[in-house]
This record gives sequence, C-alpha cells and structure tokens, in this order.
Amino acid sequence: MYYPLFALSTCLFASAVHADVTIYGLLGQTTAAPVQTGTATGTTQQSATTSFVTTHGPPQYTELAAYNNIYMEPPAIPNPPPANQFAIGVPTDATLMNGLSIKQSGTFFGFSIEMSVVNQLIGSCPQDLKVPFLNYMSIIAEKAGSVHVRVGGNTQETAFVVPSLDDGKIIEKNKEDASNPTSTPILALTPDLLYMLANVSSLVNINWYLGVPFNDTANWRFQIAELGEQILGDRLLGFQAANEPDLYGAHGHRPSSYSPFDFFGEYALFTQAWEADTQITRKNTVIAPSTSYALWSPEQVWDTGFVEAYGPYLSHLAVEHYPSDNCAVVWPDPNNPPRDPLVMFPQYLTHNAGINFAKPYLNSTRLAQQWDKPFLLFETNSASCGGFPGISDTFTSSLWGIDHALQLAHSNFSGALFHFGGQTVSYNPFTAVPTNESAVHGWTTGPLFYSAVFVAELMGQSNTTQLIDMLPNNANDQTPAYAVFENGKFSKMALLNYMTDPSGANDYTATIYVGGSGWNEPNGAPASVKVKYLRAPSVSEKDNITWAGQTLGGRFASDGRWQGDLDIQTVQCDQTQNMCQIKVPAPGAALVFFSDEAQAAATGDNDIATFVTTAVTKTKNTVTVDPSVLATSNGDSGKSRLSNMGGTSQGGSNGAMSVVAPGVAALVSVLAGMSVFFRVSR
Ligand SMILES: *[C@@H]1O[C@H](CO)[C@@H](O)[C@H](O)[C@H]1NC(C)=O
Ligand SMILES: *[C@@H]1O[C@H](CO)[C@@H](O)[C@H](O)[C@H]1NC(C)=O
Ligand SMILES: *[C@@H]1O[C@H](CO)[C@@H](O)[C@H](O)[C@H]1NC(C)=O
Ligand SMILES: *[C@@H]1O[C@H](CO)[C@@H](O)[C@H](O)[C@H]1NC(C)=O
Ligand SMILES: *[C@@H]1O[C@H](CO)[C@@H](O)[C@H](O)[C@H]1NC(C)=O
Ligand SMILES: *[C@@H]1O[C@H](CO)[C@@H](O)[C@H](O)[C@H]1NC(C)=O
Ligand SMILES: *[C@@H]1O[C@H](CO)[C@@H](O)[C@H](O)[C@H]1NC(C)=O
Repeated sequence: MYYPLFALSTCLFASAVHADVTIYGLLGQTTAAPVQTGTATGTTQQSATTSFVTTHGPPQYTELAAYNNIYMEPPAIPNPPPANQFAIGVPTDATLMNGLSIKQSGTFFGFSIEMSVVNQLIGSCPQDLKVPFLNYMSIIAEKAGSVHVRVGGNTQETAFVVPSLDDGKIIEKNKEDASNPTSTPILALTPDLLYMLANVSSLVNINWYLGVPFNDTANWRFQIAELGEQILGDRLLGFQAANEPDLYGAHGHRPSSYSPFDFFGEYALFTQAWEADTQITRKNTVIAPSTSYALWSPEQVWDTGFVEAYGPYLSHLAVEHYPSDNCAVVWPDPNNPPRDPLVMFPQYLTHNAGINFAKPYLNSTRLAQQWDKPFLLFETNSASCGGFPGISDTFTSSLWGIDHALQLAHSNFSGALFHFGGQTVSYNPFTAVPTNESAVHGWTTGPLFYSAVFVAELMGQSNTTQLIDMLPNNANDQTPAYAVFENGKFSKMALLNYMTDPSGANDYTATIYVGGSGWNEPNGAPASVKVKYLRAPSVSEKDNITWAGQTLGGRFASDGRWQGDLDIQTVQCDQTQNMCQIKVPAPGAALVFFSDEAQAAATGDNDIATFVTTAVTKTKNTVTVDPSVLATSNGDSGKSRLSNMGGTSQGGSNGAMSVVAPGVAALVSVLAGMSVFFRVSR
C-alpha cells in the first residue's frame, strides 16, 4: 500500500523551517541555579556524606533539566534496618477484607500534557504524529485497555481557537502578552490540534480530557468544547473549566481577595453560558474545582454548596496537587527559600510520602462517593515547577510514582494524571528529542513512565480492581505492600523496597499467606505465582531501569518500544503451609500475580502494537509509504536519514521520528489485531 505525496501536509515543512526549542519560562533547576556536571544545587552540597559523580549523557544537555547529569548518593540504610523477613496475610475473598478501595480501572494512572507542548510530544499536525508517543501510549493501552490523557494546564486559560495559522502550524505561543508569573504564553490553536488527537485515538486507544478557558467571565470562549465534542466525540472524557482557581488572586488574574464564594459566583455565569451554547450537546462533562490546595482546601469549595449547585454539569470532581515544589529556583521568593535536593531526596523514598499526601483528601473522596462523582487528581508529579533533578529523573521517582498512585487508589481517588512539561523540567514520563538536535539521540524515557507501566498492569482491564495498603513489617516505611482484588477475589500483590544496597543484605523476603484458617477460608496459595520485577542498581539510576527484564532505553536511547527479552519469574509456593515467598531487591518493586486470571494476563499475549521508526519490515498488513515519495517530500529520506547520523538541521529538525498518518480509514482497518509498521517521515 502506498500513500501519495499529497497526504503530507505542509506542516512537515513548517516544522523544519520554524524549528525552535520550546522553552518559555525557565522551569526547573536550569537557570537561577545552573545544574552542572559534578555539582548540585542546594545549601548542603558540600556535605561530607554526599558525593556527586558524573554519570552518563552528552554534556551539551546539562542546560536542559530533562537531560541533566546530576547524581546523588542514595540515602544510607536506616539504623537499625527494617526486618528483611516478614509475613503478610490476605483473604482470598474481598468481602473478608475491611477498608478496600472503590473499584478502579486500568486507566487510573493517566497523563497531563501542557497544551503548549503537544507539538513536541504528540505531533505537529494531524498528518504528522510522533511515533515514540504512539509507542509509549500503546504500552499502557495494551495493559490498561485505554489511556486517559489531559491536554491543558495553565495555557488553557488564555487559549483561543483560530481557523488556521501560518505554515500549517497547530499552535502558536505568544509569550509577550503573558501576564502570568509562570510565564505562561498566550496560546492560539487551530482545529487541527483536535483532529490530531482524533487521529491519535484511531491508532491507540486514548481518551482525552480538555481544558476550556476561564480567564474571561464576560466573554466565554467555548470553541474548544464545541469543536472538541464534534471532532473527538465519545473520545472526550470531559472539560476542565478553571485551573487552580485558588491561585487566580495570587497570580493577578483576579483581585487578590478572590475567594471560594467569588469562584462559586463565576461558576454560575459559566454554567449559564454553557447551558446556553447550543453547540455543546453534552452538558454534564465539566470537571471542577481543580483547586491546588495552595490557598483553598477542597472543603472551602464544598462549603459554598458547589456540588449541590452545579452537580448536574459535573462529570468529575478534581483537585491538582504536587507534594512539593521547586519554584524558588525559578521565582526567587524570600518566603519560599530554595529547597535542598539532598534534604528532599529521602522524603520521596518513604511510604509516608503517599500517606501524608492523600490524608487531607480522605474527607473529600468520602464525600465524592456520597455525591456519586469520581474524584480525580487532575495534575500531579514529584514537585511543581519542574521537579527536582536527581529525584524526579531517577529510579526514586519510579518507586515514588508507584506508591503515590497506589496510595491514591487506596484512598478512593478514581485517577491521577501525571504532568508533562517541556524539556526544561525533570519529571517528564518521557521527553522528546531536543527539537534542535537530530534524532540520533532518540527520546528519553523518564523513570516515572515505568510507574505508569507497573500501575497499568496492576490495575488490569476488569474495572473491578480494589486495593488496600497492607502496611506490612510493622508499617515500616521502607517496605510497603498493596494487596489487589479483582472481581471480588485476591489477585495480585505489589511490594516495594526503597533501600539501595548492592550487597543484597537489605533485599527482603515477604512470606504471603493466602486465605486459610485465619480467614475461615480454604487455603488459597496457588502452586506457583508469576513475578515481574522493576529494577535498577540504585535509586539514583537514570538509564538502566528494567521491567520484567526489558528496558525502554537510557537517555536519548528510546523510541518508546521495549528492548531486550521479557523475563517473568515463576516462584513455587508451599501449598501445605499455604504461602508464597517473594524476594524484593533493594531497590526495586515486585508485582506478584496470584490468581489464574492475573497469571494469564501477565504471561499472555504481549503483542503491543508498535510503530517503528526504522525501515519498514514487510509483513502482513504492513503500511508503508513509498520511500521515493518521502525522499522528495521531506528534503530527506528515512533511509538516508538513518545512515546520516551526523544529523543536519535540514528537513525536520523539529520532527524527529514522526509518522505519516496517511488516511485514517485505511489505518483503522489495518489496525484490527495487528502490529502496524509505519515508514518514518521526518
Ligand atoms: C482572556 O484571554 C484572551 C485570549 O488570550 C484575551 O483576548 C482576553 O483579553 C483575556 N480576558 C481577560 C479578561 O483577561
Ligand atoms: C487524520 O489526518 C488525515 C490526514 O492524514 C486527515 O485528512 C483526517 O481528516 C484526519 N482525521 C481525523 C479524524 O482527524
Ligand atoms: C468534610 O467536609 C465537609 C464539607 O466541607 C465538612 O462539613 C466536614 O466537617 C468535613 N469533615 C471532616 C472530618 O473534615
Ligand atoms: C474507600 O472507600 C471505601 C468504600 O466506601 C471505604 O470502605 C474505605 O474505607 C475508603 N478508604 C479510605 C482510605 O478512605
Ligand atoms: C540547541 O539549543 C540549545 C539551547 O538554545 C543550545 O545551547 C545548543 O547549542 C543547540 N544545539 C545545537 C546543536 O544547535
Ligand atoms: C471497563 O470500562 C471501560 C470504560 O467504561 C469499558 O470500555 C470496558 O468495556 C470495561 N471493561 C469491562 C471488562 O467491563
Ligand atoms: C543494570 O542494572 C542491573 C540491576 O538492576 C544490573 O544487574 C546490571 O548489571 C546493570 N547493567 C548495566 C549495564 O549497568
């Protein structure tokens, strides 16, 4: 099958001509306190117990936080260390377990993409999608059934839709008019942005949350909702209206006295306009209040009668929150001195992080159940303003991300969206190739993406997943565990070890007793269990992270596909003693599959639809684009591009590894059940 040249839009040329690095505010540790190889920011960087060594990575990237080389010595083992042998007992029947969460879905761990970086991460136009993005999402969709992605953030507030932009661009940032302390640009976008999302959804099962502007209560701009509904149809999960309204006053978007009652009043104007807009046919798709807790607690909003008043419009309740911030580095403020990454480091390597984060929301998740509304954490990550180098971009964040998400699920949130910024942040689940560099370096998989994989696989596709924090080992904060029940039966267990000890002395062995006399049930241990390990040599590791033996590659070494051989361990259980013994390395996480269904899902068909970025393999149902067409269309051919590793700026410095999505109708039929291969168009 060959697709003709005219399928390629001008946007491919545009991206080449207008390639630039998307830095619109120096978020992250990149300017005020430059991150340099061999040094760290913070006040105790000379501390005797700490050393910094240069690890991997091309030094030219040290100025972009997403690729920094900072390395921190892992925290010492607690003294005395936690017991390295302990027991965990679970019933097989969920009704015997008190405190189980509400039923969760595979989509629990979702993503939040700042609207202004969609062209870096997703694609530059409907015809030009980023292959690695499709691959990463495909990994999650294959385990979770689908993926929930929000496109929005600060930039949604001043976004407006225009019919078209120069050179086929889908977004244009105008930083000059930005009136926001986060330097958020004013954003013009075209309907093609939404067509692009629709095209993505036809390739990978992604459903979308969008944001509508709330900056102007006299002139509501609902085009994103009107077009979104038309173009995305049932791929649309809902529209966030108001993003962190508790900060509107502080950020100068409203008078400094702006209160929850003012917000309540504005929501009356919003819902009236929403109701009156005949182009919006589904009215109950609104997500609010999305407060950040910086200034208002959720209770302050509930106490206005918000849900009682606007409930019929609300599809979800939401909040946004990060456990910490690294804002002082970007916005020096005497009241918010810079945080020392060395002091912050151990605060992410403890089960208490998640517990303390979730606790203030337990009242709200209880109320949300009464109101029958799902409660989302609409934007989160390790620390706002870009995260902490050495924490957000290391295996620390893989373990933290798992525990954060599972604790939220245990606490009856219905989903959490982990935020992406541009290349100046440390916490991205994955980061595109620097836009002015050639594709030779590849994409960078963030350690947090492995948390998404772990959680998607833990949740599975039944929509009946209930979990509970087991607090084993006398609730030791270094050795947490969650038990998972599906369809009312015990199915899986997640075990984490936050310590780093290459000697093996702090690996632990959990003895898991399943059902049996303690629960007045028959013994429930299976003959054997399957185990998948998430591993790295140290919590400070940035490149060598593996899930069930496979990696997505180190920095600049990923196209979103697994590398290496799948390694699923089988552990024999002792059915006479009714237990299975699972070893967990320091550091690491284990996902243990107990039930027949869970074992089948873990080991079964692992065919992930992939989108190749190299030469097309001629197999059944391969979609290709005539190479000669590409050779002339793009100023460069896929073939010569691959051999031309020097990477000139010619032809697509911004479009590294993109896929030509020729006609979606054709693709959809091809997709049915098969891996699809695309010829790269860069
Ligand atoms: C809201 O944003 C739009 C688009 O950027 C702008 O034209 C408008 O003036 C803003 N309104 C207010 C009240 O700030
Ligand atoms: C997807 O992209 C194609 C161009 O390749 C475009 O013609 C089509 O309208 C898009 N489809 C959707 C559903 O957005
Ligand atoms: C929970 O929130 C409601 C609504 O704001 C409030 O009335 C109640 O006091 C809160 N309960 C607790 C235990 O915080
Ligand atoms: C979650 O909700 C369930 C069902 O209402 C409840 O039993 C459980 O205690 C809640 N969990 C937490 C941590 O609040
Ligand atoms: C890419 O852009 C960065 C930031 O502007 C600059 O420091 C770097 O030298 C550029 N690299 C190339 C190869 O042009
Ligand atoms: C789980 O929920 C999703 C979304 O509502 C639905 O598409 C899917 O069919 C459900 N799966 C099962 C097994 O019920
Ligand atoms: C990667 O880490 C694993 C432990 O997780 C270790 O066994 C292996 O030697 C490491 N590989 C490299 C190349 O460092």
